[in-house]
Amino acid sequence: MPPSALAENQQLDEASHAVQYTDQKLIYFSSASEYTHRFVQKLNIGSARIPLFAREPELIATKPYVLVIPTYGGENGKRAVLPQILNFLRNEQNRRLLQGVIGSGNTNFGTTYCLAAKRVAAKCQVPVLYTFELMGTSEDVHKVKEGLDTFWTLKSQKRT
Ligand SMILES: Cc1cc2nc3c(=O)[nH]c(=O)nc-3n(C[C@H](O)[C@H](O)[C@H](O)COP(=O)(O)O)c2cc1C
Repeated sequence: MPPSALAENQQLDEASHAVQYTDQKLIYFSSASEYTHRFVQKLNIGSARIPLFAREPELIATKPYVLVIPTYGGENGKRAVLPQILNFLRNEQNRRLLQGVIGSGNTNFGTTYCLAAKRVAAKCQVPVLYTFELMGTSEDVHKVKEGLDTFWTLKSQKRT
């Protein structure tokens, strides 16, 4: 990426740490295993990824968006929402612009299946729009693509 493009995407906020603004309508987190990342790639729509590492610029949403997140709860589900996702949602603007959550997980985890999405949705008072396992099936991809189209169309109609 040329330095000019980098400068455009990154600005220094008041606390002097790098931030990256995004107007994408789909924002997601994916760990190093990248299942969620692969699912989002298959959707073939614009998206922004919540940083994995603290050294990366903080991501800040500038438009309403849907969040796609995996669960890493394990047995008791205590820390189902990963710190990177909590950090992202600590930003008031990111919370305010959140419209819905899509959860990724693994049904082998039973009662904590997609718990992170359910927790975030409940806390931010937005709906869980869909849940899928691992990198999703082609049916999941189709349903989410169509579902998001309908979701945003209905939202824009409500605004007018
Ligand atoms: C240590 C660990 C704990 C997990 N805990 C849960 C869980 O409580 N509930 C769930 O639905 N999935 C759980 N999963 C499955 C992940 O959410 C799933 O593999 C997801 O697709 C990972 O997405 P990512 O590769 O984009 O990070 C867990 C996976 C690991 C490795």
